[in-house]
Amino acid sequence: MFVSKFGSAPKFYVRAPGRVNLIGEHIDYCGYAVLPMAIEQDILIAVEPVKTQVVQLANTNSSYLDFSTSANNIEINKTKPLWHNYFLCGLKGIQEHFGLNNPTGMNCLLDGTIPPSSGLSSSSALVCCAGLVTVRANGKTLSKVELAEICSKSERYIGTEGGGMDQSISFLAEEGTAKLIEFSPLRATDVRLPSGAAFVIANSCVEMNKAATSHYNIRVMECRLATKLLSKSKGLDWKKMLKLQDVQVKLGVSLEEMLTIVEEVFHPEPYSTEEICKYLGISLEEFRTQILSQNTQDVSTFKLYQRAKHVYGEAARVLEFKKICDEAPANAIQLLGELMNQSHISCKEMYECSCPELDRLVDICLQFGAIGSRLTGAGWGGCTVSMVPTDKLNNFLKNVEKAYYQTNVQSSALENNSLFATKPGRGALVFVEA
Ligand code: GLA
Repeated sequence: MFVSKFGSAPKFYVRAPGRVNLIGEHIDYCGYAVLPMAIEQDILIAVEPVKTQVVQLANTNSSYLDFSTSANNIEINKTKPLWHNYFLCGLKGIQEHFGLNNPTGMNCLLDGTIPPSSGLSSSSALVCCAGLVTVRANGKTLSKVELAEICSKSERYIGTEGGGMDQSISFLAEEGTAKLIEFSPLRATDVRLPSGAAFVIANSCVEMNKAATSHYNIRVMECRLATKLLSKSKGLDWKKMLKLQDVQVKLGVSLEEMLTIVEEVFHPEPYSTEEICKYLGISLEEFRTQILSQNTQDVSTFKLYQRAKHVYGEAARVLEFKKICDEAPANAIQLLGELMNQSHISCKEMYECSCPELDRLVDICLQFGAIGSRLTGAGWGGCTVSMVPTDKLNNFLKNVEKAYYQTNVQSSALENNSLFATKPGRGALVFVEA
């Protein structure tokens, strides 16, 4: 297809994987460690650098239209998260990092196997893949950690305030191991998953595009506001505090103690804009311009108690999950399953990032033998991840397929690639023909 499209052969190929997050949802942007693994499904781009400064993009899937732009005039349209805009995020991030004055043009053909808008990080895989394509095409090199950091920042050109988990695992993943990803400084530690259990991804078939809705950014904002109010209540310099983890670090207390502080400081009723302004001693104007992001300007109530409870509780569950994997007690699978179930309940009740279809799918997975099951990724649609004892796997897959996918037309149409067991896959790579 590349040859028929561009009239010449590609010089190299880059692939970047999607991911499934096993535990630690919506806490990366609060500074806390998460525990994902890369999946086998990826974005693959065939590339030929060219002498002109034109970047031409094509997709093997004809529903994604061709696009071309001059390499030194990148404009990213935040109002329409079309596929090529994710490529441009990676391209622009790398160009800016190196201050490239004469970036090379290139012909690129993209092929993807990650179901889009399903919480398996197809968009970040595309940003990462484009970033690595740009590094290679311009004859530069970067470490994986540098690539992950640049691509995490550059995805924000699309307007989402993501935390960096997806880009980090896409670059830092290694075959056969999940990773504990910690931030500031970014680092990844192996987490050996228990033998005797398989991790199964099931797509609720409800599509959720983070960039097209404001759900995600509202949560980021609520966490930021919770940070400010908690800081103020403890006499800290609240203007400098951005993440819920900053409060814990400054106070030098445990996550359990942070949960108690949340109980003391916040009321469960939603906070109004006026109440927050009064608490912080700022005007409505300052609130809108200095604190709220562009696409959260219309939000008028904020659930600070619930969001902070989720974040500190979930951060503790991630550390517990890692500890159980390291110590591998005889009942490891049971203990890990309980943590996954608690995580889902917290996502559903405290963070309100689930949806009826995800909840139904989790119930079905638990009913047919999963020890733990939860939504994975941003939520509000997308996939669940379930931990299933290996000896029950075949029956589990058969029964879940019958119970969830064969009962409604939309799901059964999407049944292929919607329910599969997965193993920790490898991170992003460049392939060059010999
Ligand atoms: C998306 C974001 C991540 C993370 C998850 C929720 O995938 O890109 O940074 O916040 O949602 O855990």
